[in-house]
Amino acid sequence: MEGRDLVRSIKAVGLVGAAQRVRAVRAAWRRRRADAAGLPERGAERARVPGPVQGVEPGPGGGVVRFTRSELRITVATSGAVFWGWDGAGPEPSYALAGPCPEPDPRAVLEPDKDGAWRVVAERVTVVVSRHGAVEVQTPGGVLLRRDLPPRWWEPVGGGAARWMQRSEVSADARFFGLGGRASGPRLRDGTYRLWNTDPGHTFAPEDDPLYITMPVQMVVADAGTHLVFHDTSWDGTVTLCGGEEGAGSGHDRAGTSELRVDGGPLRCWVMVGTPARVLHAWAALTGAPALPPPWALGHHHARWGFGSEQEVRRIVSGYQEHGLPLDAVHLDIDHYDAHQVFTVDKDRFPKLPLLAEDLGRDGIRLVSIVDPAVRSEPGVAVYDAGLAEDAFVRDAAGRLVEGVVWSGESVYPDFTRARVREWWGGLYEERLTQGFAGFWHDMNEPTSFAAFGENTLPRSARHDLEGRGGDHREAHNVYALCMAQAAYEGLCGLVPKERPFLFSRSGWAGMQRYGGTWSGDVATGWPGLRASLSLVLGLGLCGVPYSGPDVGGFDGSPSPELYLRWFQLGAYLPLFRTHASLRAGRREPWEFGEEVLAHARVALVERRRLLPYFVTLSHLARRTGAPYVRPVWWGMPEDRALRDCEDAFLLGDALLVAPVLDPGADRRAVQLPRGRWYDTATGEAYEGPGQALVEAPLSRIPVLARAGAVLPVRGADGGLELEVWAPRRGRTGGGFVVADGGDGWDEPKVERYVTRWKKRRVVVERHEGDGPGELPYPVRVRGLARP
Ligand code: NOJ
Repeated sequence: MEGRDLVRSIKAVGLVGAAQRVRAVRAAWRRRRADAAGLPERGAERARVPGPVQGVEPGPGGGVVRFTRSELRITVATSGAVFWGWDGAGPEPSYALAGPCPEPDPRAVLEPDKDGAWRVVAERVTVVVSRHGAVEVQTPGGVLLRRDLPPRWWEPVGGGAARWMQRSEVSADARFFGLGGRASGPRLRDGTYRLWNTDPGHTFAPEDDPLYITMPVQMVVADAGTHLVFHDTSWDGTVTLCGGEEGAGSGHDRAGTSELRVDGGPLRCWVMVGTPARVLHAWAALTGAPALPPPWALGHHHARWGFGSEQEVRRIVSGYQEHGLPLDAVHLDIDHYDAHQVFTVDKDRFPKLPLLAEDLGRDGIRLVSIVDPAVRSEPGVAVYDAGLAEDAFVRDAAGRLVEGVVWSGESVYPDFTRARVREWWGGLYEERLTQGFAGFWHDMNEPTSFAAFGENTLPRSARHDLEGRGGDHREAHNVYALCMAQAAYEGLCGLVPKERPFLFSRSGWAGMQRYGGTWSGDVATGWPGLRASLSLVLGLGLCGVPYSGPDVGGFDGSPSPELYLRWFQLGAYLPLFRTHASLRAGRREPWEFGEEVLAHARVALVERRRLLPYFVTLSHLARRTGAPYVRPVWWGMPEDRALRDCEDAFLLGDALLVAPVLDPGADRRAVQLPRGRWYDTATGEAYEGPGQALVEAPLSRIPVLARAGAVLPVRGADGGLELEVWAPRRGRTGGGFVVADGGDGWDEPKVERYVTRWKKRRVVVERHEGDGPGELPYPVRVRGLARP
């Protein structure tokens, strides 16, 4: 490594002190040595492709197609999802799947196609396998959505994990989304995206990639249809995307391509085809229903690295109350730990944490605790001693503990890929519960070890249990945080069986929504960071993780009052609405930016509280259908190309279209509207889509438009639930859902459906048939009648 790189990397260790930087240098050398000794040299490799087809063996839901040098197993599941795996790979074991592999659809059978190809025809998709192992995914009408060329493997001559490459083609008009949390999206531009969960070591902007959550999950949206493809391997890899080009006039189309290169693991994938809603429904059915946040977690959260003391926490909470600002949760960062050690409390500065929690609880404010996975490797540290007794920590091939460096100094890492360790770790949350914490914020779980150079994680040679199969960090790295979330979630379910856990995690992988959400990590304070915040929430939603949100105001520095306000206004419409910043950053309380910002921030907070029943409804719908709360504007009309390219607005559920201000100095903005009538909720002005509208966006608010005919539950002035109805166009109807839930328990309340229509000169609202007749249980307010 060049000296200059070394200095730059040491600086990247940013906020840590001099002693820790020295430790980071040592740790990096250790890591390098460990990998040199612990990982076999790849040496010479042999390339392989499947070769020509030899025969087939039909089986339930599809069958096996045999080639000279490989075999392909295809199964259509009853959910409509299609699985295929090369070289005998089956769907299990898998960290992504929520349970056992879904049942095969007995109606789907393998049958001969033309030119020596084979096909499986299912209700929603046809899969055609060519003589040489290309796999085509077609709509039931036979239109091509994706063509995977025959894969290629590179096998070390001396044995070991094969690397592989899968190149795919999609139609020229297709757009790529997903791959986890990407800051430069939501539409993924041409380029190479790495699949390796990474703490960038500094605040990130749109050009930083990869970040904390990567997933081999792609959503591809084209005129012909939408599909989601998931390559189920947790190994390091890259995806290189290149959008296609449509031939002008008589020219040919150039297909879009996606090239996936992975360092190991099975070559297997799942594909789901249909509308975006159907595709995400199938994805949630496969990888698990999103955890339901308790209603308080859909309010406003305030965090800070460096509150420093109980008094300061009380001071901030009083500030919120005195300024008439709703607040639902306060998050304590690592500075409340004793010497930065997880599952401890600094008794000097936080002497009566349970009392603080109780006092805040009386005002409806919950305490949330940060939880880092690393444990200081020092005898006498209780978690370290207990973990040693459990043999819970990651070791190398020689059986030595693997050490890294984090806030608490030299530390060891629990091996969450071992069921017994998850159980032990889950039990440790009891200490947090006795301190009065109601929610948990997992951090540094990529896992991170400060690095002065090279990668800031564990050595790739570090050994992991991987549910008894055994393996190393190359395979375990990307699922480390997912398994940590599982440990916490299951532990909390056991400790407090009557309440559903609230947790969100910086890192994760496919299926993480089963345990909770995430936040956007250390986003750089600046207008590009604001844009990146939205990209992450939208992209993660399309990967099945519906609950997330940014550090409002950005993690570092001091935002201008305008930037802070615009971030705040955006955050108010995202599932996780949290202000947070770094130790050395400027203040983030709404009253720190002057009277004008305070007044406008109050409006945003009050509106968020008013919309709480709508957010609760969206959380239940996400759980039942997999649909994210925050959806791209093309959600219901993926065939509308202008919508497909719109990245600066989003749908919040079916009813609202939110158009945040993402540029300085703007007081109006263009909004790309889906088909139908849309009302500016502030002015009542109606706009007709599809097309663009120019909408006022004064500093006091961001444009929020309501769909004509929308029925949404809001909180009335008396705190009770009300239905807000936006008049449908004359002769048209509308509707919406309500899931009325006030509790933190496990009840699954009924989904109520309402419809609205014109009756003579009035807009009426009725309960949808099947929900039971009669009286509406809520007051109704119709808006959009007095439109200009
Ligand atoms: C990194 C996290 O991303 C950030 O949110 C947190 O404040 C710091 N770690 C300190 O715990």
